[in-house]
Amino acid sequence: MTVVLGIESSCDETGVALVEIGPGGAPRLLGEALHSQVAMHADYGGVVPELASRDHIRRVIPLARQALEQAQRTLADVDFIAYTRGPGLAGALLVGAGVACALAAARDLPVLGVHHLEGHLLSPFLSDDAPRFPFVALLVSGGHTQLMRVDGVGRYALLGETIDDAAGEAFDKSAKLLGLGYPGGPALARLAEAGRADAYALPRPLLHSGNLDFSFAGLKTAVLTQVRKLPAGPDAATRADLAASTQAAIVDVLVKKSLAALKATGLNRLVVAGGVSANRLLRQQMDAACAARRARVHYPEPRLCTDNGAMIAAAAALRWQAGLARPERRYAFDVKPR
Ligand code: KG4
Ligand code: ZN
Repeated sequence: MTVVLGIESSCDETGVALVEIGPGGAPRLLGEALHSQVAMHADYGGVVPELASRDHIRRVIPLARQALEQAQRTLADVDFIAYTRGPGLAGALLVGAGVACALAAARDLPVLGVHHLEGHLLSPFLSDDAPRFPFVALLVSGGHTQLMRVDGVGRYALLGETIDDAAGEAFDKSAKLLGLGYPGGPALARLAEAGRADAYALPRPLLHSGNLDFSFAGLKTAVLTQVRKLPAGPDAATRADLAASTQAAIVDVLVKKSLAALKATGLNRLVVAGGVSANRLLRQQMDAACAARRARVHYPEPRLCTDNGAMIAAAAALRWQAGLARPERRYAFDVKPR
């Protein structure tokens, strides 16, 4: 067994996890620790990069101890250390990369930088019901919305992506317009529970574009127009209706485009990953649409949808297992914010 310690620090979550992997097997989570900075950034309505970096520094070593303790291992049991190389906030990434290299140098261990999105993409391999290749992947996070054909670890072909805002961004920006706190996705989903999804006819851009690209910028503008028409003062029902209609518009596009990608590739397996894959309505509608087409859908476990260390350790383990990446004892680390 090869034991990998993974560190995630690209945005507002500090995550450390320990994963083990054998030849040909799936990665298995041994221990993990996570600290969310959400409460700290909430006062500012979004992530403040400088505060994020400082908090990562404060948290990462205690979290590493916690993950190791939970796994009942020590650094002496670790074979290599993985960190998120990017994309993300430069200062935040430097903390994870720096700490990974410092720990590795102290123990003469090799290190490996991992792409954050590959972490999300491969996170369902940590669940009991891991997907089989090939599959279509819908990656929906705060910064990305992509459809990919995935033939194996490292074998990814882009089928379509957003030409403007990401799906998570559409949730976050609409939530802000509705006066909801940060992060907007979960807050908007909560408000939507009390609303009618058919109350507002909001645009579904590029739904019939004939390709697999997305566009969410127009939705935000449409939401703004409706927010301006909202009655003055607290009218919870109307706001809930607008939240429900917004969520329905985003989910509708994500589901229909994913189904179109399955059709275009002739595949019958779908992986949905990234922060927005935690969304309940998205899961319900995707499950229903795929069941009707006899396709299987895989998601990460709900707590592994948003950023975490486990997905970074797992992606590193899978890349190493596939012979695609060799961890090295080179501690002149680099990060790739974009
Ligand atoms: O993957 P992630 O944690 O970070 C990035 O790599 O961007 O995704 C964060 C995004 C945010 O836009 C957040 O609002 C959204 O995922 N999100 C949700 C839900 N949980 C997180 N959006 C809709 N419904 C949710 N339940
Ligand atoms: Zn992420």
